[in-house]
Amino acid sequence: MRSLLTFILLSFSASTLAIREYLISNRCPTEIPLYISGELQGNLAVGELFTKTYPGAENAFIYTSANGGSVESGRGLTRAGFFADDDYYYIIVDPVYFNVGIQITPLNSPPAGTTGFCGRIACTTLTCATAFQQAPTSFPAPTSTPPAPPLYACPTTTDTRYLIEFCPGGTFPSPTLTTVALNPNGNKSKCADVRGAAFANGTPVQIYDCNNTPAQKWTISRGSTKVQLTGTNFCLDAGSTPGNGIGMKIWTCYDNLPAQAWYFTDDNRIALEGKGLCLDLPNGVLTNSNQLQTWQCTDNNNNQVWTI
Ligand SMILES: *[C@@H]1O[C@H](CO)[C@@H](O)[C@H](O)[C@H]1NC(C)=O
Repeated sequence: MRSLLTFILLSFSASTLAIREYLISNRCPTEIPLYISGELQGNLAVGELFTKTYPGAENAFIYTSANGGSVESGRGLTRAGFFADDDYYYIIVDPVYFNVGIQITPLNSPPAGTTGFCGRIACTTLTCATAFQQAPTSFPAPTSTPPAPPLYACPTTTDTRYLIEFCPGGTFPSPTLTTVALNPNGNKSKCADVRGAAFANGTPVQIYDCNNTPAQKWTISRGSTKVQLTGTNFCLDAGSTPGNGIGMKIWTCYDNLPAQAWYFTDDNRIALEGKGLCLDLPNGVLTNSNQLQTWQCTDNNNNQVWTI
């Protein structure tokens, strides 16, 4: 009697409570830290498959901080997103930094007689058309036709399974170069600027009202980087004797030149590599023509924060 009741209860719960499973695969060239919805799951070894099972509908963001993604700021985190109640899935890409490619493959079959549901999606470049740039905050009610990309759906009444692959091409994306304005500590009305738009060796780099001209467009990437004036062969240059109070200028770009070897940190400092010097707005003065300098990198110094 008791075992029969147990059997009935078990089959009842098994048929009403469909499970949801995320199979997560690391195809990147290194092990990667794996996060699900804010929680570190541990490191996923090269080629490892990790399975996360939920006993019902469970929303999830699945991502890694590998290759320059910052968990603290959310910057540079490519995310696989799942809105479980309506069986939606999607990818989100930070518009200024692409840390890793993601591919999502629903392992359920599309509903009988439908097309456009349950397709595989992948995003392997910063500008892929298959991704949101910000997490969607609302979702349309499901219908019998598929949602508009970059939202995708795989409606099912049974157990739900998705395969999520990091680095579907087997490699990390090359450093993402982005053309940006460099704003002092988040002030979008002020920009790092080449004085007088004189693109020549030695022209000072200063603070100026933003005007969206070529004198204020910089190509930069997270991590080790040149800070290049976009579309020119001139780079931000700290001079041959870098130190506190040295005025910044542009100079012809060279590879492996210490004066042009910067490191753009996740918290928006532009530091001269190996020198402990940071790009600095002298005294925080935002008046037009104040020439930028290098200064010893110091914590909580807003004069050294350059947002993009
Ligand atoms: C940006 O700088 C300008 C010039 O100093 C100032 O007037 C403005 O209030 C600043 N904006 C912000 C958001 O700090």
